[in-house]
Amino acid sequence: MKRSLLGIRGLELAEIEDLLGLAAHYKARILAGEEIQRVPRRAIGLLFFEGSTRTRVSFEQAAAYLGYRSTNFAGPGSSMAKGETLKDTILTLKYERLDAIVMRHNASGATQLAATFFGGPVINAGDGEHEHPTQALADAMTIIERKGSIQGLKIAIVGDVMHSRVARSNAWLLTKLGAELNLVGPRTLMPPVMSHLPGAIQYDLLAGIEGCDVVMCLRLQRERMDSGLLSSIGEYRRLYQVNQRALRVAKRDAMVMHPGPINRGIELDDLTADGVASAIHQQVENGIFVRMAALHWAFDGSGTDTPTLRLADGKKAAKKAAKAEKAEKSERATTGGKA
Ligand code: NCD
Repeated sequence: MKRSLLGIRGLELAEIEDLLGLAAHYKARILAGEEIQRVPRRAIGLLFFEGSTRTRVSFEQAAAYLGYRSTNFAGPGSSMAKGETLKDTILTLKYERLDAIVMRHNASGATQLAATFFGGPVINAGDGEHEHPTQALADAMTIIERKGSIQGLKIAIVGDVMHSRVARSNAWLLTKLGAELNLVGPRTLMPPVMSHLPGAIQYDLLAGIEGCDVVMCLRLQRERMDSGLLSSIGEYRRLYQVNQRALRVAKRDAMVMHPGPINRGIELDDLTADGVASAIHQQVENGIFVRMAALHWAFDGSGTDTPTLRLADGKKAAKKAAKAEKAEKSERATTGGKA
């Protein structure tokens, strides 16, 4: 069964478990240096109409690990710069015989529109202020690896919630997985209709992160902001920066996350961004494995060539891979790197 991954909101828990289980499975195999079953005839289009480093590169990496061909396609340099509509571009790509599309666009709902015209699988790599499902899946995977489970955790998402598709996808995903969620930020950066998002609102940083197991920061999305929403960056930093001082009220072993790109010194200070509590690099790396999972899931569901893996199995496999990696490292050390 072919399907699209357009958002987290509409996913069933079993589908989320399949995606996370597949991601853990792929991570374990890749870290252990095992062969991945490759599907060489598939061609996917990467359509990034907005800037991206992490998401685009990790989709490219994911496609390469799976043996797919990928073609990069963006607004400037394409026929869209000559006035072609999104609909006609998507129809063209369909008849160019691409098998799937991964798309980022600045309009909320654009990926839904693309899925309607394309017919085949479309994966949302971020649409406007709507959803960014694979980022949330990478974040959930990272939390599960560090904390064992999301059920019962206290999690704060801090910052520009209003403009953030990462916050929306994470709010749905983390609450579906049993977290207690606080959305923390200035009044002017909170969505006007909060009843559409799960989670409690906190306008005060310390009240919002107190006792939290996870503090997830968001980028100030200045490109999407009307002027006047923030009185000054300095004031935002003073009131909402997640730093060592603020973290004293969170749990002692709280982990700190950020989807990137970071505005260093604004959302996070250097000590926090680079410290042991930071999971930022792990989030980036896990982005590859959840995107492999998303591609697999979109094309093959969860039950064809690769058996469905529950998260617990994936975690077991990841542990086994970490052990193998450690053994390999120490073997390399004893043979002076000649192994
Ligand atoms: C985010 C995005 O573009 O939605 N980045 C990402 O994909 N890792 C967040 C952002 O731009 O702030």
